[in-house]
Amino acid sequence: MPIKHFLQFKDFTRDELDYLFARTRWIKTEFKAYRRYWPLADRTLVMIFEKASTRTRLSFEAGMQQLGGAAIYLNTRDSQLGRGEPVEDAAEVISRMSDVVMIRTFEQDIIERFAGHSRVPVINGLTNEYHPCQILADIYTYIEQRGSIQGKTVAWIGDSNNVCNTWLQAAEVFDFNVHVSTPPGYEVEPERAGLYGTGHYEEFADPMQAARDADLVTTDVWTSMGFEAENEERKRDFADWQVDEDMMAVAKPDSLFMHCLPAHRGEEVSAGVIDGPHSVVWDEAENRLHAQKALLEYLLLGRIEA
Ligand code: CP
Ligand code: NVA
Repeated sequence: MPIKHFLQFKDFTRDELDYLFARTRWIKTEFKAYRRYWPLADRTLVMIFEKASTRTRLSFEAGMQQLGGAAIYLNTRDSQLGRGEPVEDAAEVISRMSDVVMIRTFEQDIIERFAGHSRVPVINGLTNEYHPCQILADIYTYIEQRGSIQGKTVAWIGDSNNVCNTWLQAAEVFDFNVHVSTPPGYEVEPERAGLYGTGHYEEFADPMQAARDADLVTTDVWTSMGFEAENEERKRDFADWQVDEDMMAVAKPDSLFMHCLPAHRGEEVSAGVIDGPHSVVWDEAENRLHAQKALLEYLLLGRIEA
């Protein structure tokens, strides 16, 4: 099989994603039953972090171990990456000593350049532009809770950031609609989001209108990693973009609430919503583990015949 990377959501076809979700379900069931499954024995994942992480690190590291493989953690602070070694050189070396690489970094261009010089599959563990592993878990979680997402309405409230961009790509692949509401000046940039068209999303000035009749309401922090200098300004600009109980009340009665986490209660989401009956944030976080195990298996071994 030629090397396949997962650098943005649309790198995978609908068929591949449906396959991954079927594998996710199987891998999750086996794991819950304490049945050993070690298809990646003797394989090594290198994880490179240029930004902080709890879930992404833990889910990849635990996931690789649970599949029988090993995971090595590198960060910018105490590797040569932080001292100006060209990313292309790092890719040449790291990919000769490992079987798969996961990177969390700043510009998407960095991970594209790494992948261009890598002998092994590269996974995007978050860039300024995209967070494809997150949406893999999110859509799996939606399907697990409610069935097919095709034709459904997802309300995105807040910043048009990496997670938002990835939802927009996923909407094109799975044929659902995203109602986006951002404060003025923070609107979606279709080219940066890597969209084929504008047919799967609609922008709303009023977040309540965006949330109306939604099947899923989701949001994220007002200030993403790397943009901390804008924090105070963003707190002012986003003050009316909190997902609260009034907003969930205009969504469908059986709507779900998701948040990639970490969350700031009292900013982008009220405690009543994230800790309330619509919220599936803990299942969403757990599914990072199961979905990424399916992703690792697919990138390293290809399709497993059921
Ligand atoms: N959602 C997510 O990627 O969390 P971490 O930043 O903790 O990895
Ligand atoms: N948009 C957030 C997501 C964190 C998981 C960030 O990039 O910081």
